[in-house]
Amino acid sequence: MNNPQEHFKKVISHAKEYGFVFQSSEVYDGLSAVYDYGQNGVELKKNIRDYWWKAMVQMNTNIVGLDAAIFMHPTTWKASGHVDAFNDPLIDNKDSKKRYRADVLVEDYCAKIEQKIEKEAKKGKKRFGEGFDEVEFLATNGRVLGYRKKIDAILKRLGKSLGEEDLADVKALIEELEIADPVSGSRNWTDVKQFNLMFGTKLGASADSAMDLYLRPETAQGIFVNFLNVQKTGRMKIPFGIAQTGKAFRNEIVARQFIFRMREFEQMEMQFFIKPGTQSKWYNHWKQARLKWHLSLGMGESNYRFHNHEKLAHYADSAADIEFKFPFGFKELEGIHSRTDFDLSQHEKYAGKKLQFFDPEENKNYTPYVLETSIGLDRMFLAVFSNSLQEEALENNSSRTVLKIPSVLSPYKAAVLPLVKKDGLPEIAQTILKDLQWDFNVIYDEKDAVGRRYRRQDAIGTPFCVTVDHQTLEDNTVTLRYRDSMEQIRVDKKEISKIINQEVSAKNWLNKL
Ligand code: GAP
Repeated sequence: MNNPQEHFKKVISHAKEYGFVFQSSEVYDGLSAVYDYGQNGVELKKNIRDYWWKAMVQMNTNIVGLDAAIFMHPTTWKASGHVDAFNDPLIDNKDSKKRYRADVLVEDYCAKIEQKIEKEAKKGKKRFGEGFDEVEFLATNGRVLGYRKKIDAILKRLGKSLGEEDLADVKALIEELEIADPVSGSRNWTDVKQFNLMFGTKLGASADSAMDLYLRPETAQGIFVNFLNVQKTGRMKIPFGIAQTGKAFRNEIVARQFIFRMREFEQMEMQFFIKPGTQSKWYNHWKQARLKWHLSLGMGESNYRFHNHEKLAHYADSAADIEFKFPFGFKELEGIHSRTDFDLSQHEKYAGKKLQFFDPEENKNYTPYVLETSIGLDRMFLAVFSNSLQEEALENNSSRTVLKIPSVLSPYKAAVLPLVKKDGLPEIAQTILKDLQWDFNVIYDEKDAVGRRYRRQDAIGTPFCVTVDHQTLEDNTVTLRYRDSMEQIRVDKKEISKIINQEVSAKNWLNKL
């Protein structure tokens, strides 16, 4: 599966075929950029959430959890700046009538130049063979440096014009770069306009007394408005963090690339409250800590990179993304933002209440600064899923489709399979299943030949298959098959749980940090 576009198509179809992700309201022809998670998807999603929660909340004594409501007082969003500034610059093509994010059109243009750089590197590798030093080549090759300079100049100008709200210059940039509508090829563009991404709704029964509300576009504000509640009741001392996972909603203009950009999605966010002036230290700390969390899953160091922001959100004094190599290229997976005291100060101002911390060491009150880590759960799902899906050639000229999901995240940790549906084998398999169920999510399958059952488990990423056969009747041993190597070993029934636990426990995976 070398072709990334083909691979991405396979990811989408596999996700549906094996009960991971369905289009929302499919019977009504679906709802754009809204998805449902099926029986296997819900388990994978939960396991990713748990892996994050374990590392973030349960392994840090100074970080606690929260589950704030999705509905919040509407002034929250005025204070946070979302009413006035949570906009995307949009542009319409007059011929195709298609709507685009102006900044995404420019970024896609830069991604194409990036592809040219990759092509140059490939050519170099082919020409110089074994002795090719890619890092040296990328740092010195004239053509590559030219491309890099062009990308930097474009992104710098885009960042400046967006920062200064100079939308005419964003349009001028699109025209100068001769960017065409990807669908129709037309360059007949409207002016660039700002478009607010929040969904509105109403609270209350009668039209005149109803209150205008927003569906939260990020979970973070629920943490800010609860800062003092948690600090006081939990007797937390700075530095400390509050973490939460939950749904967020954005009326994305360009919703595409499957679950990468959705209108309803889930975030896993942590706000770390710190002493003003220490933000640079904590910014670097959390950048590294979060990268390590990703690397612990073993999905390949070269699939991650940092992207430091030129254009900062209205609340940040520095920000970086951890980007992941999705099938459509490197894209943002997680953000690390130094949010200063912007949010707490704004809520103090709009609510007319102090949101400060009394620092006993300094013997004074201050409004803490905040370091945020924010990752999209659905995006992490896509990263794991697309990276794990592999088509493997086998020795006997056949092939298998296997989801090599990091086993700590696999929907099922083991499948229990009686070799045949008779001779008392299903009964023994059921006893093993019942026993394993206490510790792991396990599945039972007795239909079809065992080879086909192995393939079914490979396709949903189950790391172990436990097969009960006639020898089990004699000596209480079973066959344990490993998903990745397809190796089969004979073990005593009593050993199964220990072996599985060794491979799938979050402790062992996170200990790699
Ligand atoms: N509280 C900060 C915040 O919300 P963000 O960069 O807008 O920052 C954080 O979003 C993360 O949420 C992103 O890195 C991404 O993983 C995820 N995310 C944002 N918009 C999304 C969307 N429309 N669909 C899926 N995930 C999204």
